[in-house]
Amino acid sequence: RKLLLLNGPNLGILGKREPEVYGTSTLADIEESVAKTVADRGWQVTAVQRESEGELVQAVQDNYGTVGAIVNPGALMIAGWSLRDALANYPRPWIEVHLSNVWARESFRHESVLAPLASGVIVGLGADGYRLAALALLAKTAG
Ligand code: DQA
Repeated sequence: RKLLLLNGPNLGILGKREPEVYGTSTLADIEESVAKTVADRGWQVTAVQRESEGELVQAVQDNYGTVGAIVNPGALMIAGWSLRDALANYPRPWIEVHLSNVWARESFRHESVLAPLASGVIVGLGADGYRLAALALLAKTAG
């Protein structure tokens, strides 16, 4: 069984990207912590980070067979309609994660076109948010 860990634009440079906002963990650190969190259940992680929406759509389509997904869409939260439609057809629970507390930031970050489809949304907990999302997916999923 595989868990999809999907990260959108500008998230491949975590660690060096506005660390006062996004923290100092790298995406590799996050991928490792999610992999460790689900390893006991025998799940593996398929980690995909892309800068463009079309490639993220493709990654969702290619991974409809995964057991669940963690998605940080980056700024595509605001108007990522084709990513939203790809996730609408995703058959398993998935959780939207944002490292920063988007509600404490600019108003253009206060809306997500994806969030209504998510099982849950975690914001503002930094890299821990991904690990907590993995725990939530474990709890939601038998076997
Ligand atoms: C983000 C929040 C978004 O508003 C921003 O565009 C990002 C990162 C976060 O993880 O806090 O790229 O998704």
